[in-house]
Amino acid sequence: MRKGFLTFAAVGLLATGSMAACGDDSSSNEAGGDTAKKPKIGVILPDSKSSARWETADRRFLKAAFDAAGVESDIQNAQNDKNAFQTIADQMITSGVTTLMIVNLDSGTGKAVLDKAKSQGVATIDYDRLTLGGSAQYYVSFDNEAVGKLQGEGLVKCLTEKGVKNPTVAYLNGSPTDNNATLFKNGYDSVLKPKFESKEYTKGPDQSVPDWDPAQAATIFEQMLTQTGGKIDGVLSANDGLGNAAISVLKKNKLNGKVPVTGQDADVTGLQNILAGDQCMTVYKAVKKEADAAAELAIAVAKGERKETGQTVKDPESGRDVPSVLLEPKAIDKATVKDVVADGYVDKAKLCTGAYAALCTANGIS
Ligand code: BGC
Repeated sequence: MRKGFLTFAAVGLLATGSMAACGDDSSSNEAGGDTAKKPKIGVILPDSKSSARWETADRRFLKAAFDAAGVESDIQNAQNDKNAFQTIADQMITSGVTTLMIVNLDSGTGKAVLDKAKSQGVATIDYDRLTLGGSAQYYVSFDNEAVGKLQGEGLVKCLTEKGVKNPTVAYLNGSPTDNNATLFKNGYDSVLKPKFESKEYTKGPDQSVPDWDPAQAATIFEQMLTQTGGKIDGVLSANDGLGNAAISVLKKNKLNGKVPVTGQDADVTGLQNILAGDQCMTVYKAVKKEADAAAELAIAVAKGERKETGQTVKDPESGRDVPSVLLEPKAIDKATVKDVVADGYVDKAKLCTGAYAALCTANGIS
């Protein structure tokens, strides 16, 4: 079996179909797929509440990548319903998808879906979230510990700029069922734990938000503020949705802008909160790159080709080394919101509405 090196910079090649042939000569791939079959890719997104990205970025960029390659795709959203997730997967398998790409809702259902697909000869990819103990042939994501590290460093920078002495920092972590949430926390802990240990900072309340649900995050954060008698000086929030929930509570208490809050995903609300001075930073993950890399792999495995990604991630549950593509995240603050717009990730018209128009101009967003 020959291996081809996957060059993500050259993802445009997909469109021309001139990617070097590096297929397996036999008639079936690892998952038992038939190389003669025309690729058809099924994608299951997790929900549309935990982050705007799934519907506004991932769907759009994945569809564009499949369309550009002339490959049929079926992209659906499980809307945070594990039964629906399994039903969609079954329907996709029955409809003859050659590759199934999933963003799991938890590792248990994710694993069941991946194993079933594999047993039916369907190639599989873990998109963004690693399914622990799972059987996906590839994992495509960002360096998620690096995401958390950027959040930790961003919060330290904002607290330093505000000159807060011995700040109390509260954590609003992502869903306990999402392996990424664990990795983000490892990242921000690597920055903040030493500060708690040296007593430069004080560790405040630390809670995970089920399903990354912003509504629950608001309730949790309200309780955190009450418990501490309002003594929270900084909020390490794991994404923009949770951050916006914390900001809404801070606003009610006239504390917005005084207490720095972090985020992730560079969604429109997060970026507006940054422009308004209510959010300290976000982490921009160029989802187009993630979608392009995943689409290229999905099409290749559907054809029975094997790709060398040059990197693996160890599944902490099974110990399996999963061939992976991990992209680099980028920290964004007020001065660099414009970069996210320039990259085509968010629309200037959506970002710079109403009161934000003047803030956009003042911050060089054109
Ligand atoms: C993703 C984040 C997203 C979160 C909630 C994580 O797995 O990496 O980008 O904000 O899920 O959907």
